[in-house]
Amino acid sequence: MREHFYQDIEFAHHGQRVLVACNMVTSLDGKVTADGNQPASLGSAFDRRTMGVIRSHFDAVLAGGNTIRLHPYYLGVPSALESVRTEKGLASQPLTVLLTRSGNLDPASPLFEKAPRTPIIITSTAGAKNLPQPIQEQARVEIMDNPDPQSIIALLQETYQVRRLLVEGGPSVNYQFMQAKLLDELFLTLHPSLIGKRTDLGLSAGDKVLEQAKDIKLLTVHQQEDEIFLRYRITW
Ligand SMILES: NC(=O)c1ccc[n+]([C@@H]2O[C@H](COP(=O)([O-])OP(=O)(O)OC[C@H]3O[C@@H](n4cnc5c(N)ncnc54)[C@H](OP(=O)(O)O)[C@@H]3O)[C@@H](O)[C@H]2O)c1
Repeated sequence: MREHFYQDIEFAHHGQRVLVACNMVTSLDGKVTADGNQPASLGSAFDRRTMGVIRSHFDAVLAGGNTIRLHPYYLGVPSALESVRTEKGLASQPLTVLLTRSGNLDPASPLFEKAPRTPIIITSTAGAKNLPQPIQEQARVEIMDNPDPQSIIALLQETYQVRRLLVEGGPSVNYQFMQAKLLDELFLTLHPSLIGKRTDLGLSAGDKVLEQAKDIKLLTVHQQEDEIFLRYRITW
């Protein structure tokens, strides 16, 4: 695979703390969805490749139920990046971690049928009962009623030895990590499109205005054709 500007990036040392980053693509008018439930990604083919390169640095990649129902694929890296990961001492594929209260997931999706590692599902007691039987066999189910980001991270660290976690949305999941002041980095792609629809979502979606971080530092800016790739470090 050709060199990518995110291939050899370094991360700040976090001691015992899990490093948490988020990767999202927005339109120029700040939307991460286009007409609500449209499953296609907003970004270009290069942005999708970039997603894989960013994932290659992380032990686990997490997404919420709505995102996974629309994009029911394992949150992994292309096979060309597996050796890059193992050379760094990581497992060949990151762990996929799904958050769902309802347990409303489709066992026939490629996410479960073609998973290179057993996905982790964090769900409520009711959600676990609602999970279709094949998923109970294809995934590892962790029951947590009303989990907050802190307890999700603690579980992933203690049980799955996760040291770096990548959050890939959607906006309501991103919001929870920002509100808990646990987001350390943001990878943001600006895609040259305008969506315009009032009901489409922005990068984070919650009930209250977020408390501002102490500092948000722009680490790098890259351009590829008309897309811009930003990397920020957040200090709370
Ligand atoms: N442009 C981008 O980069 C990008 C990236 C990702 C997603 N998206 C878009 O974002 C949209 C979805 O975003 P969204 O905000 O509606 O939904 P979301 O964040 O993907 O998922 C929300 C769902 O996650 C589960 N969940 C959230 N917090 C939880 C918690 N603490 N414990 C247990 N489960 C929890 C619940 O699942 P259940 O409903 O199953 O209970 C909840 O309904 C989609 O249109 C997707 O395409 C865009």
